[in-house]
Formats: sequence, C-alpha cells, structure tokens
Amino acid sequence: MNPAVDFIGVSHTYARGRVHVEALKEVTLSIARGEMVAVMGPSGSGKSTLLSVAGGLERATAGIVRVDGVELRGKDAAALAQLRRKKVGYVFQNYNVLPSLTAVENVALPLELDGVAQRKARRQALQALRDVDLARIWSGGMKRDLDHVASERGIVGVVPRATRGLHMDRTEFVRLEDLPNIGPAIAAKLRRIDIEAPADLIGRDPYALFDELTARTGERHDPCLLDVFISATRFMGGAPAKPWWKYTTERKAKLRALQFGTTEGPRGLGGS
Ligand SMILES: Nc1ncnc2c1ncn2[C@@H]1O[C@H](COP(=O)(O)OP(=O)(O)OP(=O)(O)O)[C@@H](O)[C@H]1O
Ligand SMILES: [Mg+2]
Repeated sequence: MNPAVDFIGVSHTYARGRVHVEALKEVTLSIARGEMVAVMGPSGSGKSTLLSVAGGLERATAGIVRVDGVELRGKDAAALAQLRRKKVGYVFQNYNVLPSLTAVENVALPLELDGVAQRKARRQALQALRDVDLARIWSGGMKRDLDHVASERGIVGVVPRATRGLHMDRTEFVRLEDLPNIGPAIAAKLRRIDIEAPADLIGRDPYALFDELTARTGERHDPCLLDVFISATRFMGGAPAKPWWKYTTERKAKLRALQFGTTEGPRGLGGS
C-alpha cells in the first residue's frame, strides 16, 4: 500500500527579493496510512512549511513529494486543489473557516465543490457534526465554535465516506412541510425568517424564532404558533413527534417565567 505521505530529499526555499530562507533541507520521510505523527520543533524550524508542501500549498523547490502515491510535481494549481479537497484536511492555526457561512455550510462546502448535491452535502455535514458531538452548532451562530468547525472542515472529506449508509435520522426530512404540525401556511412563515429546510431548525431557539417573525412581519402572531415552533425544533433535535398542543403548558410556564422571573407567576395573569 502506498504511504499516505512520502518525501524524498525534499527542500523548500522561500525567496524574498535577495533573501533566501531554506525552510526545508533534504527531508526524507514516509508516513503510513493510519499512522499518527507529530512534527515538533522550535519556531521557524519549518513545521508549517512541511505541512504546506505535503498538501501542495507550497511547491517543493527540490525533491519528490507523493501523497497517496501521487507525485505532486508537475500538477497544476487546479489539480493540487482537487487533491487537497479529496485527500488532505488542514486545521489551520487561524481557522480559515468562512465567517459568512454557518457551521453546517462550512462543513458542507468542500463536498459541494466536489460535486455532491447541496442537500446531500448538507445532510452529510450535519451527520459529521453530530458524530463528533457538535450538534449544538449545527445551524446556529458559529463564531465561538470556530476551532471545532475548522477541525470538522478538516475531517469532512473523510467522514462522509465513513458515514455513508448510516441512519440519517431527522436529517432525512427535506421539506418543512414534511415535519409534524407544519403545513404550507406555517412553512411560509418559517421561510419569512430564513428557515428554508428542516435542518435550519436544528439547535434554534423557538422563542427567538417567534420573536424574529414578529419583528419581521410587524404582526402579533398566535402564541400557538410558538407551540408549533417548539414542536418542530424539538423534533429536529431528536424528540419524538407530538401534536403542537402538547407544548402549550410548557410554553405558558416559560413565558411567565420570562416575564416574572418565576415559573409560578402571579395568580390570575396566566392568560393564553
Ligand atoms: N512566506 C514566507 N516567505 C519567506 N520566508 C518564510 C515564509 N514562510 C516561512 N518563512 C520562513 O521559513 C522558516 C520556516 O518557517 P515555518 O513557518 O515553516 O516554521 P514553523 O516551524 O512552522 O514555525 P512556528 O512554530 O513559528 O509556526 C522560517 O525561517 C520563516 O521565517
Ligand atoms: Mg508554523
């Protein structure tokens, strides 16, 4: 079997004007598939350069570099990019996730670039995040979890193959209207707040969604709609399907608590 990474007499010299820095000098190294290797050394010793050359981000100035048996020399930029997408996962010190995309979109991106259909890529990305217990950031704000997401981008090229055929659970639900309690009218309301697909509900706070809808439409909505939002977000989080009115009591108690700072609330102010 080919080594995962093979360096034979690899050198890399950075040239900046007249200054040349010899970052790698005749490195010979072979890393087997499945082998775990730590490259250690003082700052400036060439660790990052070694990783960059191994993934074709930098071209070796001398020597032979092979990744999974494929020699990198002579490959054009597009071929190197494709090789990285399929075979290399980097976790950069500065993350390099795309801040305008959600966590799921970041994880799905390399798959989409690889020609996987958008929905399927999204499903696989969700599964990959779930597999490593990053469920909470499935669709939510991601900034505080950038490091985790970065590592997901690193593994997603590999994970979908491993997870193919596994039970996809809720991620099988593709249309909002496929969800319990949601018909076309409520689906339309959800779309007003950019919830386009069931996956967009994962990890979302139904109360915040309800507030957002109120703000967007400038209308007061029936609080029962909040019960539907609770049922839908819970369902996408793995809870069993239940009729929306099963959440009414909980919703009333929660709203009272938010209003009065207690789950009891003053008598007589319960309301609907
Ligand atoms: N783009 C560049 N242009 C010129 N010189 C560079 C460039 N990148 C790195 N170097 C130089 O190459 C040498 C190796 O740098 P490299 O970043 O690979 O080290 P490192 O082991 O990753 O260091 P650190 O632990 O600080 O990340 C250093 O002398 C560095 O200054
Ligand atoms: Mg470095």
